[in-house]
Amino acid sequence: MNRKPHVAVVGATGAVGLEMIKTLEKRNFPVGKLTLLASARSVGKKLKFRGRDIPVQELKKDSFGGIDIALFSAGGSISKEYAPIAAQAGCVVIDNSSAFRMDDKVPLVIPEINAADIKWHKGIIANPNCTTAIALMALYPLHAAFNCKRIFASSYQAVSGTGAKAIAELERQVDQIVKKQPVTREVYPHQIAFNVLPHVDSFLPTGYTKEEMKMENEGRKIMHHPAFRASVTCVRVPVYRAHSVAISAEFEKPATVEAALAVLKKAPGLDVIDNPAKCEYPLPLYQSDKYNCAVGRLRKDCALENGLCFWVAGDQLLKGAALNAVQIAEELMK
Ligand code: A2P
Repeated sequence: MNRKPHVAVVGATGAVGLEMIKTLEKRNFPVGKLTLLASARSVGKKLKFRGRDIPVQELKKDSFGGIDIALFSAGGSISKEYAPIAAQAGCVVIDNSSAFRMDDKVPLVIPEINAADIKWHKGIIANPNCTTAIALMALYPLHAAFNCKRIFASSYQAVSGTGAKAIAELERQVDQIVKKQPVTREVYPHQIAFNVLPHVDSFLPTGYTKEEMKMENEGRKIMHHPAFRASVTCVRVPVYRAHSVAISAEFEKPATVEAALAVLKKAPGLDVIDNPAKCEYPLPLYQSDKYNCAVGRLRKDCALENGLCFWVAGDQLLKGAALNAVQIAEELMK
């Protein structure tokens, strides 16, 4: 493309949409024109981009004429309905929802791992699940070195992963508790303030949740590793921003801590913070607003043959969503 692209953000007023706008600006993405789309409720709102107020428009079927790249983050049902319409209109869709991730005709991409898959897109490229993206930033380099057979993992997921309403719910509940008022809830099935919920997304007949199965299913597709197995428990925690994942991974090749550390230190988009004696390890509070994910607590797994345990944290609104989407757009421009 010779000119700067016309970019649209669908779901511009949401937690991820706002980060997409910020990330386009911060990374100096060559935006020729920016169109912001959301529901009719947001018409009249204006959002800042490069110092200018841009009005939010209502998403409609004819919204995509002249748009080159559309970053979607307005939920799966909006993506299912509008992404094919946008692609039909000649726009490349980078979709943050789960709607197309497992579609054989749609690449599912983390640029540090499988940027080459972008080449075979047919108008839609999927962004991975946030927890999967953060886990794979540390797991994939280890897999490339030692061949990962399977993982056992637990996630610690921030409320902003549920969207702007969930951030407000945690804030409100903390305030209600401090003021000794009755706690009200709208978003989660239980109080989230001062609590943890072993429940992210809906339950499947197997007893796992949909979110838990994304690590295995999306991990297989992104790593090109159909035999990869993952047993995951996803947990919502009263953290505003950044997800953490505790992982025990079993490898085919022997993996010493020293060799693994050497691999992780060279991995793109990943910082190693691993000095337990000084209480230094990745923390969601400090990963918030950072592009890189961080890994630490690396140790030999005492229950698995050729196993390693580690802890990864990353800003799920960025690497798990907005940043990854903008990185895909950057790859498209190369
Ligand atoms: P709106 O703010 O107008 O409701 P979050 O995940 O943080 O809740 O954000 C969801 C995003 O998806 C928001 O930008 C929201 O816009 C947008 N959205 C929700 N429903 C629709 C819809 N029917 N049409 C277009 N955008 C929608």
